[in-house]
Amino acid sequence: MDSSLNPKPADSGALSDADYQALCAFLESASGIVLGDNKHYLVVSRLGRLVKEHDFASVGELVRKLDKGASMRLRQDVVDAMTTNETMWFRDTYPFELLSEKLLPEFARREASRLRIWSAACSSGQESYSISMTISEFNQKNPGLLRSSVEIVGTDISPSMLEIARTACYDDLFIGRGLSEERRQRFFRQAPCGWQLTDEVRARTRFSELNLMASYALLGRFDIIFCRNVLIYFSAESKRDILERMAQALNPGGYLFLGGSESPTGYTEVFEPVNLGRGVVYRPRR
Ligand SMILES: C[S@@+](CC[C@H](N)C(=O)[O-])C[C@H]1O[C@@H](n2cnc3c(N)ncnc32)[C@H](O)[C@@H]1O
Repeated sequence: MDSSLNPKPADSGALSDADYQALCAFLESASGIVLGDNKHYLVVSRLGRLVKEHDFASVGELVRKLDKGASMRLRQDVVDAMTTNETMWFRDTYPFELLSEKLLPEFARREASRLRIWSAACSSGQESYSISMTISEFNQKNPGLLRSSVEIVGTDISPSMLEIARTACYDDLFIGRGLSEERRQRFFRQAPCGWQLTDEVRARTRFSELNLMASYALLGRFDIIFCRNVLIYFSAESKRDILERMAQALNPGGYLFLGGSESPTGYTEVFEPVNLGRGVVYRPRR
């Protein structure tokens, strides 16, 4: 049969085991993300768009290019495409309740002039802005109590997610994930781009690109770190390394929030759990 009558889409070719292993090795060294076995389908579906954009004949050809010294841009695009950016507003609820009911009153009592919060692996910004909305609600309920100025720093390895975070504008699909009607009305305005967050929520939030495998030195120190639903993608060694460096990035008396299925136990001893009733936070051991 004349194959030109039935051309294969560029990304339909099966990925050989050798190419799959090469992609896994590249991804782990570039981002710490461990794909595990037999996720060929995931690679093919996530890299399909890049195959077309960069004019490769197949995912295999793209992967072999990575091996032979691809451009910085292609390497970054591949990492971006391979990240899982699943997120939602006020994810799991309890971290934001604990922040409001336990941690903010504690920091208010300490009377520090500045409270710095890091939303590490912030994806498209929902976690960072949920923290900011929590601060606004706390300030409304407790006028004048929190005298510190609050800065929230959202970081992620994915430039495409950070672009969404910086616009602070979300479509109906994004808005529908975890945001109450009351909060939508209070914190968003309808705009040509979708639902635009108010300046009040945006003003205390900034975003920058950061690979959690790289140094945190330029970020400065934080009072609270949210590092949620990202450690699950890393090896035990990377988890330990990240957690130990996060302990150093915390000011004395600081706290770390992890995702519901994540814990330092078994990876490092630097953190101890603090049970706050509805959930657990971690603080560096003295
Ligand atoms: C599943 S999302 C979690 C988002 C948010 N923290 C939450 O809990 O809803 C994981 C995020 O981690 C980011 N990520 C993966 N590897 C990373 C790395 N090495 N450095 C920084 N961010 C990374 C991904 O780009 C993605 O946006």
